[in-house]
Amino acid sequence: MTGTPDRRLAELRELLFARPAMARELPGFDPEAAPAGPVELFVDWLTGALRAEVPDAQVAVLGTTGLDGTPDGRVVTLREVDPEAGVWSFHAGASSPKGRQLAADPRASLTWYWPAQGRQVRLRGPVVTTPAERMAEVFRRLSRKSRVAALVGRQSEPLADSDEFRAAWQEADRRLAEAPDLVDPGYAEYGVRAEQVEFWQGAAERHHVRLVYRRVGDAWTRELVWP
Ligand SMILES: Cc1cc2nc3c(=O)[nH]c(=O)nc-3n(C[C@H](O)[C@H](O)[C@H](O)COP(=O)(O)O)c2cc1C
Repeated sequence: MTGTPDRRLAELRELLFARPAMARELPGFDPEAAPAGPVELFVDWLTGALRAEVPDAQVAVLGTTGLDGTPDGRVVTLREVDPEAGVWSFHAGASSPKGRQLAADPRASLTWYWPAQGRQVRLRGPVVTTPAERMAEVFRRLSRKSRVAALVGRQSEPLADSDEFRAAWQEADRRLAEAPDLVDPGYAEYGVRAEQVEFWQGAAERHHVRLVYRRVGDAWTRELVWP
C-alpha cells in the first residue's frame, strides 16, 4: 500500500466519480423478442457470458434473511437450472450460517452481474432443499476437492490459524481416501423456485432496459419497468 490512509481515500473518491458506468460497447436486448419464460433467456445470457470468458460468470450473490432479521449476502456457485420447475440450484453446508438461515426462513434471492455485457439478472422466491436420499448421488458427482472441502466443514466458524485448517483438510482427505464413497451428511443442495426474475441490460446514457418475469400459476407474465 502506498500513501497515507487519507491520501488513499481521496484517491478512491476521485476514482469512484471518474468512472462512468456502462461507457463501453454493450450487446443489445430486444424485450419484444424475449422468450415466454425466464429460464431460456437466463441460459442465453449466462452462456453468452461464459463464452465471452467473463470470470466466474456462473457465480451469484445469494441473499438470505439473517436469524435476527438482518439481510445477509454472499457469493455462491450456480450448479443447475431446471427449466420446467423454474428452479436455480446451488450447494452449501447445512450448518453454515446461510444453511441455518435458510432452515429458519426458506426464501432467497440470487443476483448475477456480468460486467463485460453490462447485464444483471436478479431472482427471488421460496427455497426447496433436495431430499437427503438424493444427496449421495449429488455428492459423488462433485470434484474430489469439493468433497474434501465439504468434509472439512465448520464453515464460517472462528479459525485459530492456517495450521488448524491444514490439519483438518489432511484428515478429511485421508477419510475420503479410505472410503471413496463417503458422503458428507451436512452437504445440502438448495433450489430457489423463482417467483420473479428480472433481466437488466445496461446501455449508454442510462437508457437501460429492464424486463421482469412473474410466475402466475404454471405460466409467466412479462413486464417492462422503468430503469
Ligand atoms: C467465487 C465464489 C464462489 C463460491 N461458491 C460457494 C458455493 O457454491 N457454496 C458455498 O457454500 N460457498 C461458496 N462460496 C463462499 C461463500 O461466498 C461464503 O464465504 C461461505 O459460503 C460462507 O457463507 P455463510 O457464512 O453466509 O454461510 C463462494 C465464494 C466465492 C468467492
